[in-house]
Amino acid sequence: MSLESIKYDKGNLTILDQLLLPAKSFYVDIKSVQDAWSAINTMQVRGAPAIAIVGCLSIAVELYEKEDVTLTTKSNLQIELDHKLQYLVTSRPTAVNLAKEVSILEGLIRQLVEDESVTVVDMKTRIIEAVEKLLTKDVSDNMAIGHVGANSLLTTVLDDVKVTVLTHCNTGSLATAGYGTALGVIRRLHELDRIDQVYCTETRPYMQGSRLTAYELVYEGIPSTLICDDMVAALFKKTCVHAVFVGADRVARNGDTANKIGTYQIAVLAKYHGVLFYVCAPLSSVDFSIESGDEITIEERSECEMTTVAGQRIAAKGIKCWNPAFDVTPASLITGIVTEKGCVSPNELHKLGPS
Ligand code: MRU
Repeated sequence: MSLESIKYDKGNLTILDQLLLPAKSFYVDIKSVQDAWSAINTMQVRGAPAIAIVGCLSIAVELYEKEDVTLTTKSNLQIELDHKLQYLVTSRPTAVNLAKEVSILEGLIRQLVEDESVTVVDMKTRIIEAVEKLLTKDVSDNMAIGHVGANSLLTTVLDDVKVTVLTHCNTGSLATAGYGTALGVIRRLHELDRIDQVYCTETRPYMQGSRLTAYELVYEGIPSTLICDDMVAALFKKTCVHAVFVGADRVARNGDTANKIGTYQIAVLAKYHGVLFYVCAPLSSVDFSIESGDEITIEERSECEMTTVAGQRIAAKGIKCWNPAFDVTPASLITGIVTEKGCVSPNELHKLGPS
């Protein structure tokens, strides 16, 4: 059984509290849109696809709570839901997945309101159905990404060679509905018995690498080694690393990619050392409405994440801190963008989306 960050059944939603991992495996109930907003904002749940799914499922949770007889009119329901959806989007600004799903849901809601043959009860059912589909779609997209990414790398090495790869942050089952994106590619390579070693970075300051990715790698029995974020150059110099696989929070039309802080410096080092650098993400992480990474809002988080570890202050009192949660890797440093529809070079990404 693989790790499950999101458990959902007919209006009952719980999430694995990722603030407590790896020490404790504890599920938290999400009973409302407000609960989902707080869980996303405090990073009890994180990772672009998981954020979108939990946000949208919280709408289904609230709809299940509404008795059919107490539903008012379709336009009242529309006003209420639009308000809640817009609120959800304010939870974290950088990842595009939640904003995209929200805009799709708003479109569906508009269409249901306009269609006179749809009753308010039908409207509730149709919205719940649309949201519930996100879970299975995410897992199947991730499995496709895993296959595409593994094949892309394996075409670059001889048949019997086992590969050494590096990943940053957490892009596995914990960050998605299951299987993972960049970690899904690694999972697939392991299924094919082609992994020699996976290096994962600690990913300061929130430690998604040491707390979450290391946990998943050990859980899956994948040969793996943890390094600090500042060891990547030394690793590339000393070891033959075949490729880097990372996820994405928002990919611009030109391929510039916002992902966890530290991704950009790994890409620069990969270019210098001739290491392949792949971004692995569902097409729902691509924001075709923006031309380049310059248009991406980068979330800045509380300095406490840098100055304290497990409640203990580790930084000198009085020091100022800068804590951006993401950075933007320029398309020119990216070998390929691995999506559920294939692996493309950044300058061909626009062919997979709306013109
Ligand atoms: O701040 P986080 O932990 O939500 O950041 C997560 C990442 O940057 C991931 O790489 C990205 O969301 C892709 S998860 C499949």
